[in-house]
Amino acid sequence: MAAQLLDGKVMSDALRAEIAEKVAALKAKGVTPGLAVILVGEDPASQIYVRNKGIGCEQTGMHSVTIRMPEETTQQELEEQIRALNNDPAIHGILVQLPLPKHLDEAAALAVIVPEKDVDGFHVQNAGKLLNGLNGVVACTPKGALEMIRRTGVNLSGKEAVVVGRSNIVGKPMAVLLLQENCTVTICHSRTADLAAHTRRADVLVAAVGKAKFITADMVKPGAIVIDVGINRVDGKVVGDVDFDNVKEVAGWITPVPGGVGRMTITMLLQNTLEAAERTLA
Ligand code: GUN
Repeated sequence: MAAQLLDGKVMSDALRAEIAEKVAALKAKGVTPGLAVILVGEDPASQIYVRNKGIGCEQTGMHSVTIRMPEETTQQELEEQIRALNNDPAIHGILVQLPLPKHLDEAAALAVIVPEKDVDGFHVQNAGKLLNGLNGVVACTPKGALEMIRRTGVNLSGKEAVVVGRSNIVGKPMAVLLLQENCTVTICHSRTADLAAHTRRADVLVAAVGKAKFITADMVKPGAIVIDVGINRVDGKVVGDVDFDNVKEVAGWITPVPGGVGRMTITMLLQNTLEAAERTLA
């Protein structure tokens, strides 16, 4: 293997130990950071995410509640639940697990969360702050991915960064974060002509496509930092968007799936929740 592994578990363990210390310090001042996760319906992948979030809270000494609502929950019921959490002083972070069942309006639900408790960074106010270079809550997956990129020690200024995927949750905020690092950023997507021509130029390549092993070795510049955001299930196995076994022979650094960005995403959620709780004392 040519590439160095960017191990999300090792990085997360270190960060979670720091978060746990800060949680303990906050508790000594009478504030226990609290995270509420709302899960509507029975999506199997969401069940796993939600369980891992609970484990993360326990590890770091935070209070966590999971509110399970049935598949047939109405928009009004969901929004009432969010408002109740907005007004609950024991809760500093509110996360509505996505995807929601099809009959529910995601954007409308996310807009109900008060921006201070929006630990996912999905509220338009937080997304807008990011775009304007203002302090706000940054979405957990791109924030975690950037942390991993930084830990390579590579000076990012002037580097070519290519983000494959343009979602509000990953692709767009990732591109903005890389722009803030002074990368030259390209966002590619399903309509991009000659995708490989773009990815082959990338010093930093972030794959957030949702297609198993979509990024192949011939699409990667030798020595590149390759960040795999994908979580795909193939024959009962979890694989990323990057063809890991072959790309690792070309890349300079690579994140594994599982044990890469996914783990860091939850660590960033814990950090955002801690910071939301800290702000209540400021
Ligand atoms: N579903 C998959 N990833 C995420 C995430 O980071 N936040 C929320 N709310 N839902 C998700």
